[in-house]
Amino acid sequence: MATDTMTKPVIDGGTTKTRVFKNFIDGEWVESNSGETFEDRNPADTREVVAIFQRSNKADVDGAVDAARRAFAKWRLVPAPRRAEMVFRAAEILIERKEEHARDMTREMGKVLKETRGDVQEAIDAAYYNAGEGRRLFGPTVPSELPNKFAMAVRQPIGVCGMITPWNFPMAISSWKLLPAIVCGNACVIKPAQDTPLSTFNLVQALTDAGVPRGVINVIAGYGPEAGAPLTEHPSVRAVSFTGSSAVGRTIGTTAAKSFKPCSLELGGKNPMIVLDDANLDLAVEGGLWGAFGTTGQRCTATSRIIVQKGVYHKFVDHFVARAKKIRVGNGLDETVEMGPAVNEKQLTTDLNYIEIGKNEGAKLITGGNRLDQGELQHGWFLEPTVFIDVDPKMRIAQEEIFGPVVAIIPCEDLEDAIAIANNIEYGLSSSLYTKDVNKAFAAVRDLEAGITYINAPTIGAEVHLPFGGTKATGNGHREGGIGAVDFYTEWKSIYVDYSDTLQKAQIDRGE
Ligand code: UN1
Repeated sequence: MATDTMTKPVIDGGTTKTRVFKNFIDGEWVESNSGETFEDRNPADTREVVAIFQRSNKADVDGAVDAARRAFAKWRLVPAPRRAEMVFRAAEILIERKEEHARDMTREMGKVLKETRGDVQEAIDAAYYNAGEGRRLFGPTVPSELPNKFAMAVRQPIGVCGMITPWNFPMAISSWKLLPAIVCGNACVIKPAQDTPLSTFNLVQALTDAGVPRGVINVIAGYGPEAGAPLTEHPSVRAVSFTGSSAVGRTIGTTAAKSFKPCSLELGGKNPMIVLDDANLDLAVEGGLWGAFGTTGQRCTATSRIIVQKGVYHKFVDHFVARAKKIRVGNGLDETVEMGPAVNEKQLTTDLNYIEIGKNEGAKLITGGNRLDQGELQHGWFLEPTVFIDVDPKMRIAQEEIFGPVVAIIPCEDLEDAIAIANNIEYGLSSSLYTKDVNKAFAAVRDLEAGITYINAPTIGAEVHLPFGGTKATGNGHREGGIGAVDFYTEWKSIYVDYSDTLQKAQIDRGE
């Protein structure tokens, strides 16, 4: 980001106009050992510094992991229902602070207020769900194969969990990781994305105010190579959860594998929405616009490919493009704005590069494609909603994750052809189908290679109590949300109690 030329924040001996956050380690606010900080700037108006954070390094990671280790020794012994009550209280605190946190998030991340309220709501939903989990954490109790012997399995916490979260859902995704982890009895060190640390700090503040003891959650701000890498490499970190790009995920997964750490990776997507001839076309157009341009296209689940059957192709394109042209782009704090900026200059450059790639590949750019930098918009990273039509499924703009408001519309013959196009991709996160034909809907549910399939809705809109994650290059088989998260943050302990007062040999003493 072009930070050097920007106005510096005013800091006057303790009372600062710009909030300066230290790291949160062992319940204390501490400065980074690096002595350096970085700025969290508003992508809609980069003149504004939202807050300043510590540029953490390995020594900070070491301190945070040590604190988490000490806290874990006690936290694992707190009954799960008690742990969960704290998470329940955090939900109620977040409800009170919802508007304030949504505004902070719009300022640091750019997405419009309606969506940042939704992001905070998702953390509230996750808190209520995981609070209930404290009284479940079910395990099997089963008959033993031997007489007078009792057999069951219980879930146990893993230890210190390291978490690295993305900037696009800065509170929701932090909550998907932290809340199940602590209800299950783990202690955590979290490194939020450097573009959006504030929302994670806000979440952790709510948990702390709700009574989560010191050291159970530690937050260090900073950059991936300096703070994220040492966190994943730390020998005392016993599980790692990462959401972000497939490239970084590959590195983290490899590091974790070397020390046999459970590692949950939620990575890229190139999510198809199929529109068949019999679909409710108005509904499909509205859904496609929301899926493609909601969050400025910056969701792992964004609708980035729309595959339309030839009978309705032209009509769909006409309506979709007409509506895309009318989307109001601007500062997300303005309630009339529908789409905010790219999160930073690098993301905007990536979007613009892919637009050039699409043009050079011969896709037809029918609307958008340009940076918006007139008037107030010159201070932010704004891009027009961009639509390519007549896209060949093999083109790079139809294969690679862009993470911006750029959608590829692809014609298809029929459902079979659409599913082949949808599946012929590296990723497998989300997918969707618009049809009124129940037979086709269920065939698509069965055949689309993705962790999530929506019928008559776009590829976004996952709820916290169902598994979230994908197949193929989208991840490594783990799921967040619902029971998937409980599975990740616990290890099974199988327990056998022999009350026969004899030595009974399993598989050998069969009474034959
Ligand atoms: C993401 O796509 O990066 O499913 C997360 C949704 C949100 C979460 C999206 N609940 O659209």
